[in-house]
Amino acid sequence: MIYPITKYGVPVLEKPAAPVTKFDAELEKICADMFESMYAAQGVGLAAPQIGLAMRLAVIDVSLGKNPEAKLVLANPEIIHSEGEQREEEGCLSLPGFRGSVIRPLYVTVRAQDATGKSYEMRSEGLLARAFCHEIDHLNGVLFLQHLSMLKRDLIKRKIRKLRKSGDW
Ligand code: NI
Repeated sequence: MIYPITKYGVPVLEKPAAPVTKFDAELEKICADMFESMYAAQGVGLAAPQIGLAMRLAVIDVSLGKNPEAKLVLANPEIIHSEGEQREEEGCLSLPGFRGSVIRPLYVTVRAQDATGKSYEMRSEGLLARAFCHEIDHLNGVLFLQHLSMLKRDLIKRKIRKLRKSGDW
């Protein structure tokens, strides 16, 4: 099932999500639906609050569905190590049409659980490291807007207010 993606302004996007405690068939279904919704929206990552669920759960695939091994489920993820720095343009499915330059660590090691509850650790660099940071931010109620300069952030918020007034957001 493809979920509609929540857009900036919906409260669930700006609240810390609750830990995943039940690793059952329902969770596996949510993960499958999240992958489907992410691919439909052509994203490389999707966090549960973006489909309206306040759970510490995200999916990532930086291969955009080309490599089955790149499919990652992150339940209750945490960054246990980060190193270096990268600055790149970043976007978010909850802020369609907007991008901004965000500094992230170049290398990130994450500890998370998969859809069955099994714990794993993964070291990443570049785009995957960026995706880990971006999605874990979502689970803490943080959007990439918060990493932009105040000037750029206010500009985007102003444009969104206008879009909302005209019914386009
Ligand atoms: Ni996002």
